[in-house]
Amino acid sequence: MRDKFLYWGAGLIVATIIVSILIGGYYWIPVVLICLYGVGIYNITQSKHAILRNFPVLGYFRYFFESISPEMQQYFIERETDGKPFPRNERSAVYRRAKNISDTVAFGTQLEVNHRKYEGIKHSIYAKSPNEELPRVMVGNHQCSQPYSASLFNISAMSFGSLSDRAQISLNRGAKKGRFYHNTGEGGISPYHMQGGDLCWQIGTGYFGCRDEQGKFSPELFAEKSRIENVKMIEIKLSQGAKPGHGGVLPGVKNTPEIAKIRHVTAGMTIISPPGHSAFSDAAGLLKFVQQLRELSGGKPIGFKLCIGDTKEFEDICAQMNVLKIYPDFITIDGAEGGTGAAPPEFSDGVGMPLEPALIFVNRSLNNYNLRDKLKVIASGKVLTSLDILRAIAMGADMCNNARGFMFALGCIQALRCNTNACPTGVATQDKMLIKGLDVTDKSERVYHFHKNTLHTCNELIAAAGRSTYEEVDASMFMRGDEFEHLSDVYFPDILGNVKQHH
Ligand SMILES: Cc1cc2nc3c(=O)[nH]c(=O)nc-3n(C[C@H](O)[C@H](O)[C@H](O)COP(=O)(O)O)c2cc1C
Repeated sequence: MRDKFLYWGAGLIVATIIVSILIGGYYWIPVVLICLYGVGIYNITQSKHAILRNFPVLGYFRYFFESISPEMQQYFIERETDGKPFPRNERSAVYRRAKNISDTVAFGTQLEVNHRKYEGIKHSIYAKSPNEELPRVMVGNHQCSQPYSASLFNISAMSFGSLSDRAQISLNRGAKKGRFYHNTGEGGISPYHMQGGDLCWQIGTGYFGCRDEQGKFSPELFAEKSRIENVKMIEIKLSQGAKPGHGGVLPGVKNTPEIAKIRHVTAGMTIISPPGHSAFSDAAGLLKFVQQLRELSGGKPIGFKLCIGDTKEFEDICAQMNVLKIYPDFITIDGAEGGTGAAPPEFSDGVGMPLEPALIFVNRSLNNYNLRDKLKVIASGKVLTSLDILRAIAMGADMCNNARGFMFALGCIQALRCNTNACPTGVATQDKMLIKGLDVTDKSERVYHFHKNTLHTCNELIAAAGRSTYEEVDASMFMRGDEFEHLSDVYFPDILGNVKQHH
């Protein structure tokens, strides 16, 4: 883009100067072009705005529509609470936290406050001062010999392939500075993940990075890679909320020779990982695989990620843990509302259980089988704001992962083009011209600040509720209308009682 802009822009200016001299009287045209050229040169050399680096003049149209009067914005673009899957106000909060500028809002809430749907934290008259220290959680039970002290909030699985090399570098450097982990996604460990940040290495049904010639799990390759110092945890991917039971999809346009080499596949082909694992086919097999990975990795924490579907299957895994006495170190629960780089719409819209009921079900099952203290529960699926994090913890999670929030921190504008290789911000593309706009120094700082400021706000909310630690966060901290009446009977009896009396 940069070179094209320089050559074509200069050529156009020279041509219009010649034409205006020849025909006379149109000298303002080259003057305007020279001004635009100057603005363009400024934009392609700045590092703050990927869109303007990639589209030095046209990029202003986006900012123009966004910054004109609120009325114009209301009529022509989106309102604060519009925008899907993430409304503008939530995206703005991430952008501001990532830029480390004030995240306050003026004039009060923009949400419609309807008491029947309302959900909020019960603040205390005896509010405390927030903790400065950011929370950490120890992952690894008695069967794990290399437990890992993780941050409460981490980067969810997104592969190199679905995200660009510069996006991965920025995520990993941000994770290093903020001491949180970066999940590799099922595409394997690339050189861009190796910037010094902690890694959770994800293994999907394609076994990318640890597969043999037939695409089956290779214990030798796994043993070699799992012992990399930065790999702190290993996650077996069973399913993902946005497409449970479908398997990963890497569109052919994004499957570059470099990615193909890392994954041991053929470049240019659309890569669909099988829907299920070939290393096991039932609950006992899964747990024996956990045990195998634990031994091969030298005792690192091993867990699995899934979106809850058939609840009996999850209960079966719990039962088998007690039979075999093999306990994973963590389980990641991904809600049906979770994100993806590419998936058939039916899978995104209508398969799998949303996060909240899934967390409640998983906790209940783990308690029923006396397993709750044996493993950590990690929650993901639109856990974006500090309120989302605390809600997930109140519903039984020990810690949280997030994918799309960290994409916003990298400059994603929710263009919804991750599956086309045409992401305009250089985040979810393999197009070198578009990736050039993403400045890793600036974006890694944003990743660091988004994480830090989000957790800091969590600390403030806990303190506002008169509590000191995350262990004290539970459902009694929240108030809620009767929208979820069936859960409220169990979890919010006092609030439900109040709402009912009111009618
Ligand atoms: C671009 C993109 C790529 C993803 N790649 C993977 C992946 O390789 N493996 C996986 O388990 N989940 C993957 N996910 C899902 C996320 O890890 C996460 O479960 C989900 O997005 C959670 O929702 P959130 O984005 O609201 O945090 C991907 C999501 C996105 C947006």
